[in-house]
Amino acid sequence: RGTATPHEALALRAAGDEGPLLCWLWTPGDPWAAGIEAGLDMGVSGQWALEEVTAAARATGRTARVQLKADTGLGRNGCQPADWPALVGAALAAQDAGEVRVTGLWSHFACADEPGHPSITAQLDLFHEMLAHAEKEGVEPEVRHIANSAAALTLPESHFDLVRAGIATYGISPSPEIGAPGDFGLRPVMTLSASVALVKQVPPGHGVSYGHTYRTPEETTLGLVPLGYADGIPRHASGRGPVRLGGGPWRRVAGRVAMDQFVVDLGGDLVEPGSRAVLFGPGDEGEPTAQDWAEAADTIAYEIVTRISGRVPRVFLNEDAAADGGGSDEGGAGA
Ligand SMILES: Cc1ncc(COP(=O)(O)O)c(C=O)c1O
Repeated sequence: RGTATPHEALALRAAGDEGPLLCWLWTPGDPWAAGIEAGLDMGVSGQWALEEVTAAARATGRTARVQLKADTGLGRNGCQPADWPALVGAALAAQDAGEVRVTGLWSHFACADEPGHPSITAQLDLFHEMLAHAEKEGVEPEVRHIANSAAALTLPESHFDLVRAGIATYGISPSPEIGAPGDFGLRPVMTLSASVALVKQVPPGHGVSYGHTYRTPEETTLGLVPLGYADGIPRHASGRGPVRLGGGPWRRVAGRVAMDQFVVDLGGDLVEPGSRAVLFGPGDEGEPTAQDWAEAADTIAYEIVTRISGRVPRVFLNEDAAADGGGSDEGGAGA
């Protein structure tokens, strides 16, 4: 498993998670000592991080597990090729001193969701070179890895010892251009739904929500969905986001998404308050998907599924298989 921040990794450990756990996005002053005590594999992309982790190792009297990250072309986190020999050298010196053990060598792709993009082979070639240098110098990594979901699904030569699948674990395709989830044997696992809060009849020309950007074209019924941008519903999808109420046809958000709620024009249909409004789900019962919301909000499905805020209760299905049982709240909204 892997997380971006130490906070996430330590929360997983506190919830009973055991086993290898990589955590890669550290900033100065982060809780390296707690990471060492928790047995995390800690991503190191530069000298400052190696200095902080070795200081924490000396303070705790324990050996830190570190994974050196190479920037093979993404231009984000990771060590530049020019700085790699110095980082590898310093890490090996710290390993000789018993402060760290270099457990992994790794990198991340920029354009794996565009198969055939020239940066993919360029990054793979450079990764091989940076691995070869580190191994020649004496690093004996337990794991070498570079593949994200797109590479895991389309590029077998990038798999090395493990793949870091993110969006694929949600059952979502990394990009509609490379295929739908079903093309890869995936099925979206996350459903976002809410209990319809109110249904009412309104006259023609009635303004709806802040700014009155929508007016009812004729006498109609409006349904109120108790989810808004504070829950992670993109305000950018105002007037566009799809939703299915009470199993009926797709409707669109009418007017602006507000902080806690949005309104749907039901075209005169009556839906029982308390029935389900499904914003997105697997899509196999006719409901919209996260990809549909991504298109409505000019973004990617990654952003839709990861932005649902903490106040939306999580209801875990197949709880036996889940690491944490979570809640079983059937009311209000849920993901
Ligand atoms: C370092 C790293 N590895 C793996 C992933 C997973 O990528 P994907 O969700 O495309 O599989 C991410 C995503 O942000 C990442 O930053």
